[in-house]
Formats: sequence, structure tokens, C-alpha cells
Amino acid sequence: MSGTRVRNSATFCTTTGQMVEPQWLRTLGGQEFVAQTAGKLRSRIDDRLRTLLDTDEYAPPQLLSAMSHALLGGGKRFRPLIFVMMVSREDCLDASIDIGCAVEMVHTASLILDDLPCMDDAELRRDKPTTHKVFGQATAILAAISLLTLGIRVLSTVHGLGDGARARMTAILSHAVGHTGLAAGQEIDLRGVSGTSLDVEQKNWLKTGRLFAAMAEMASILSQRSVRQQASLTEFASHLGSAFQALDDLMDVVATKNALGKDTGKDIDRETMVTKSGEAVTRRTYIDYLHAANLALPHCGVEEELIRFMLRSIHGLVPSEIHRNPVTELVDR
Ligand code: IPE
Ligand code: IPE
Ligand code: MG
Ligand code: MG
Ligand code: MG
Repeated sequence: MSGTRVRNSATFCTTTGQMVEPQWLRTLGGQEFVAQTAGKLRSRIDDRLRTLLDTDEYAPPQLLSAMSHALLGGGKRFRPLIFVMMVSREDCLDASIDIGCAVEMVHTASLILDDLPCMDDAELRRDKPTTHKVFGQATAILAAISLLTLGIRVLSTVHGLGDGARARMTAILSHAVGHTGLAAGQEIDLRGVSGTSLDVEQKNWLKTGRLFAAMAEMASILSQRSVRQQASLTEFASHLGSAFQALDDLMDVVATKNALGKDTGKDIDRETMVTKSGEAVTRRTYIDYLHAANLALPHCGVEEELIRFMLRSIHGLVPSEIHRNPVTELVDR
């Protein structure tokens, strides 16, 4: 296979012997202020997404409704929240919210396509019927294209940035979602990783990790970080992206449709970390990646507690019965 220059995913050892569920990940108590800050930020992101979708120009109502169905009123908003937190600068707040919204639009477009009958054939997304179930496949595809291009337009016209910075960020985001990034990962997901030189972790990196790394690069441009902080932020985001997809693959098997607000059991015939290595290894790998992300945090020049709150919040999605007894885990290891 030509052109398989993909990041080497084995950037840290997953069998370090550390506690499987580190202490920092277990405690969510005493976080009221941080939770309120994240909650307010989430409302601002939701409001801004609504505003950015609004247009004075003519748009077919059906197409606009499909875009709004997919984008508004659901989703964890994990990417825009983490993006604003990675920028971590009050004087760049408006610009960072807009860029976070651009990423959320691109991500939502990928979800609409991911749910199509020719891909995962899903019925439920963000607690609602999938876009193609409500509007038909043709309109769903057009809504995905429209959200993808709107995201790129929002990024390339964001206020408070020089032309050079905007152009660099636009190149970074579009590079992360195309044929050498997210779309590549999705293609490999459909065709299987066998027969390529890529393993499941590299596929996950393309599907999901690469967009997180792109967010770190854009956040570094916006917040003008030092070279060392930039490297740490990219390391943090790459580990987080890998944790995120490993968690998602685990949840496909262990969580319920109701709890996730989307279909489960869709990966049974796919080559995922769970189908190749089992639930226990996937869970361990996910926590190790999350822990590696946490270890990179103090070197990023960001508000650490806010980001840790977000890491704990995704960890909280894991059903309690598989937040296993630490004694069993130690034996497992
Ligand atoms: C789901 O992403 C698809 C993956 C890349 C794992 P999210 O879990 O962030 O989905 P939403 O945005 O909350 O719906
Ligand atoms: C899709 O992965 C990741 C994308 C890049 C869209 P999944 O197919 O596992 O995502 P979910 O589980 O449907 O959200
Ligand atoms: Mg999929
Ligand atoms: Mg899917
Ligand atoms: Mg999934």
C-alpha cells in the first residue's frame, strides 16, 4: 500500500504497571465551579452554532432543517469545549468559540455520513433519528457537504485573526478530515485493516485522533504558545483522540443505545480494538491513553483543572459495572 506514512501509534507503553484507573480520574466531587464554567461555555457554544447556521440568503428549508437536525440540540460538544480550553485565553474567547464551532460542524458532517446505510446504517444519533431517516439519504448527504463547507468557511473568516493564521488553520483542518485523515480512517474502517500495513490504533488515529491533533495545532496558533508547549499540547490531544476512539469502540459493546443516544453493536464485523484484542485490553488501553494525556497537561500552558474535568466527564460515560474493582484490575494486569 503506497502512502502509508501514518503516525506511529505506539508512542507510549500501555503496560506501564501503573494503576489501571488512576486516582486523578476517580474523583469528580468538589468540582462545582469547574462544572459551572464548562456548563456556561457549552451554552455559549450552542448559541453560537445556532447563530452561525442562520443565514439571510436563500437556502432550501428542507436542507437547512436537515443541517439543524444534525447539528443543534444534541451531542456532547466535546471538541469545541476542549478546543476553547486548549486555547485557554480570555482575550481569544470569541475566536476560539467560533473555531470550536467550525470543528463541531465538520465533526457533525462526518457523523451524518457515518450513519448512512452504505456506512454504519444507524438509526439513532444524538438521541434522535439519524438525519437520513428523517430527511432521506440525498438531503442527508447534501446537509453533510453543507456543514463541512460551512465549517471551513467559518474558520477562514473568523474575526480577530490575521490572514496568515486563518490560512494556516484552514489548511490544518481540511488536511485532518480528507483522504489522508478522517476520510481515510473511515474508508479503512469499511474495508478492514487486514491487507494494509496499518493496525487498528493507526486506523483510530486517522478516524479520530488526527482531528484532535489538528485542534491542538490550531489552538497553539491562536494562543501563540512556545514551541515546547505546542509539542506538549499536540501530544496531549493525540493521546486524547486515541483514548476517545478506544472508549467509543468499547461503548459500542458494553453500553446501551439509551445511554449513548446512538446505535450500539455496530462494530461486531469490524476490526476494532475490542474485536481484535478484547474488552479488557481495550479498556486498559483507553485508560492508559487518557492517563498519558493527563501527564502531558502540565506542560501545555492551559487551565488544567477545566480540561481534567472534561476527561473525567467522558470517563463517566463508562457504565458503572465495568468501572471494575481495582483488585480485579491489578490481577488482570
Ligand atoms: C462520536 O463522537 C464519533 C467518534 C469519533 C467516536 P462523539 O462521541 O463526540 O459524538 P457527539 O458529538 O457527542 O454526538
Ligand atoms: C466514526 O466512528 C468516527 C467518525 C470519524 C465519524 P464510529 O462509527 O464508531 O462512530 P459512532 O460510534 O457511530 O459515533
Ligand atoms: Mg463508523
Ligand atoms: Mg458509526
Ligand atoms: Mg462507534
